Amino acid sequence: MAKKGSKNTATNPPTSYSFTKEQLKEIEALKAKYPEVQAVTLPVLWIAQDSFGHVNPDVQALVAKTLDLPESHVHGVAEFYTQYFKEPKGKHVLDVCTCLSCGLSGGVDIVRHLEKKLGINVGETTADGQFTLQEAECLGACGYAPMMQITNDVYVNHLTPEKVDKVLDQLISGSTPDFESIAMPLVDSTHTTKRGGSNE
Ligand code: FES
Repeated sequence: MAKKGSKNTATNPPTSYSFTKEQLKEIEALKAKYPEVQAVTLPVLWIAQDSFGHVNPDVQALVAKTLDLPESHVHGVAEFYTQYFKEPKGKHVLDVCTCLSCGLSGGVDIVRHLEKKLGINVGETTADGQFTLQEAECLGACGYAPMMQITNDVYVNHLTPEKVDKVLDQLISGSTPDFESIAMPLVDSTHTTKRGGSNE
């Protein structure tokens, strides 16, 4: 679910929204794959978020109009998934997990460290539009606590203040932060459960 390349609209959100000809073509191709148009609500919201950086109510209205669906349907889908940004965000959205495992492992301290380092509170965006800081519910990587997700993409695990500082430097310089891939459990032919991970 890589969402790289989203435009930063935190400081200068557009005043009106429209899909390009190419995007409309892509949307028509998606619609042709499914018997019901409702099925493409999710991918079309992604196209919109990639293009505009968020899916605020005006963008949701555009998606509804494009798909000829009720705005209430598109709104309900967008609201259900936290991965859709319902308002403009910074270029990099830092979702720090503060649920049980991460909270007990220092997740809250990581949030405080980021607040101090970035000069903002949770829920705010830096004045230069680079970073939005958020607290997240469990991101499903409790064994790697404390962890954070960056703009719906990379998971950075076993956070420390020093690691966070390095991640910020990497993001500012335009490089991908160091992260550890998390493998799903595998079941072999003898039904033995294995776990695996690798450093990338
Ligand atoms: S508690 Fe943080 S990923 Fe589950």
